[in-house]
Amino acid sequence: EKQGFRHFMLKEIYEQPSVVRSCLETYLDASWSKEKAEEKSPINLGLAGELCDNVDYIQIVACGTSWNASMVGKYLLEQLAGIPTMVQYASEFRYSPAPMLRNTLTIGVTQSGETADTLAALEMEKQRRMALESPYNAQILGITNRPESTLAHMVDRIINTQAGIEIGVAATKSFIAQLMGFYCLAIDLAYRRQHLSADKLESLVKGLRELPNQIELILSQQEKQIEELAHEFIDTQDFIFLGRGINFPIALEGALKLKEISYIHAEGYPAGEMKHGPIALLDAKVPVVAIAMPGDVHDKVLSNAQEAKARDARLIGVTPTDDNEARATFNDLLFVPHVDELLSPIISVIPLQLLAYHIAARRGLDVDQPRNLAKSVTVE
Ligand code: M6R
Repeated sequence: EKQGFRHFMLKEIYEQPSVVRSCLETYLDASWSKEKAEEKSPINLGLAGELCDNVDYIQIVACGTSWNASMVGKYLLEQLAGIPTMVQYASEFRYSPAPMLRNTLTIGVTQSGETADTLAALEMEKQRRMALESPYNAQILGITNRPESTLAHMVDRIINTQAGIEIGVAATKSFIAQLMGFYCLAIDLAYRRQHLSADKLESLVKGLRELPNQIELILSQQEKQIEELAHEFIDTQDFIFLGRGINFPIALEGALKLKEISYIHAEGYPAGEMKHGPIALLDAKVPVVAIAMPGDVHDKVLSNAQEAKARDARLIGVTPTDDNEARATFNDLLFVPHVDELLSPIISVIPLQLLAYHIAARRGLDVDQPRNLAKSVTVE
């Protein structure tokens, strides 16, 4: 039941620290240290060599929030494991599949394991690969929250994201769990391919272990402020979310959460694309949320945010940086802990989930059952 929370969505947002903890307990080897890097991987997903050795490319199919998680996954698989990765909407892939490349691992990502387009895309891919001779790999890996689902039965192997049953139509804890699945997969593949130093592996593992407490900190310190901020957007009609690099998909996810439960028009953009069109939308009535996490693209995001400010947009920053420049740039600051840029999506998405939730709740909407939407889309 709701355990005192007003909606399942809020309860599920609050379950995220324990979802990350249980994923770490299951897939991270507690006895691993960098001294053991020669003997074993820090991650144990139980993946057979035939599934993931000799992989030259990865292609991922998914829909909705699972597609956004896959976009973070692409970044991780490319940056950590060095494997070129394509992410496709299942509904597009079905009717215009890319030409087949050799030695490709196909991954289907679906929380429910029942999304019709994702299942059909995977089935089609399996059939067309099986019709060919080796070395066109026909192995399929599923990332799902439902080990008993149709997906789980049709693929060669799954990563069980084990977030527990999610009732709110808006995916929150299952998204975080999918991200954790991708971290584990990317680190495991990087280890197998000797693509990361023992020091880098160690710092990633250490960073992952700190995430549950850091999410708890955001929930305990930021929710009140975000709830108050949400009150100011009761009549807002459009929102823009900006992010770059690994946080570009988080801008997409922030926009998707907001539009699906609050019915406010929202768009996520790579921050650098703003001046190629969307900047024309900006004025004092269109708030802009910029994800400005420390790392390679931090200064670029700040300068894109300043361009928005020059068009009178109200600027909300998701950032750990509390300095004069951040205070001068943003009208509202949603502080988050300072983490490695590669781990930052797990942190930066939390205030965006809370913002969407509180705007929708304040509007008196049916947060858990938004209009026109079903928890799993079992028709094409
Ligand atoms: O069960 P799936 O992950 O395959 O579902 C895919 C989408 O329908 C789903 O993520 C949808 O976009 C959510 N309602 C987003 O919150």
